[in-house]
Amino acid sequence: MDQPVKLFRMAEVAKCNDSKQTYIVIHNAVYDVTAFLNEHPGGEEVLLDQAGKDGTEAFEDVGHSTDARDMMKKYKIGELVEEDRVETKVKPPVNWDTDKETSSSSWKSWIIPVALGVVATILYRSYFIAQGH
Ligand code: HEM
Repeated sequence: MDQPVKLFRMAEVAKCNDSKQTYIVIHNAVYDVTAFLNEHPGGEEVLLDQAGKDGTEAFEDVGHSTDARDMMKKYKIGELVEEDRVETKVKPPVNWDTDKETSSSSWKSWIIPVALGVVATILYRSYFIAQGH
């Protein structure tokens, strides 16, 4: 089921820089947005500005929604070859980082039992102190 990922050189992407064939690189993945130019809510000019280039920064500057990020999967045609990949200065938003989510939910998962334990101890002790009198 898993198709091998098609690899592109930046030089190949750079050739597809007009409205006839529009490739854009975002987070080291290659997108063919030719058919999307007319549909892009942000307009075709901004896409053509980034055509044949790495548009990661421009894309993240806009703060695209999760819907937009889902939508772009449809246009992904491959990834950059190892040599042409760049460490992007712009980090994807936190909700892309599943590690962070699990660590915060594991924090929440122990704080509630601990709090209940503390409350139970206080109630238990005050009950016995009350009995003692
Ligand atoms: C395959 C790639 C892309 C997809 C699927 C996409 C999708 C979208 C969508 C769905 C919106 C509506 C607002 C939202 O949901 O966030 C939007 C707005 C916008 N996009 Fe993109 N976009 C892509 C690439 C880009 C790139 C490379 C730029 C470069 C500057 C860009 C610039 C903008 C701008 C300026 C807006 C308008 C924001 C506004 O009016 O508030 N987009 N895009």
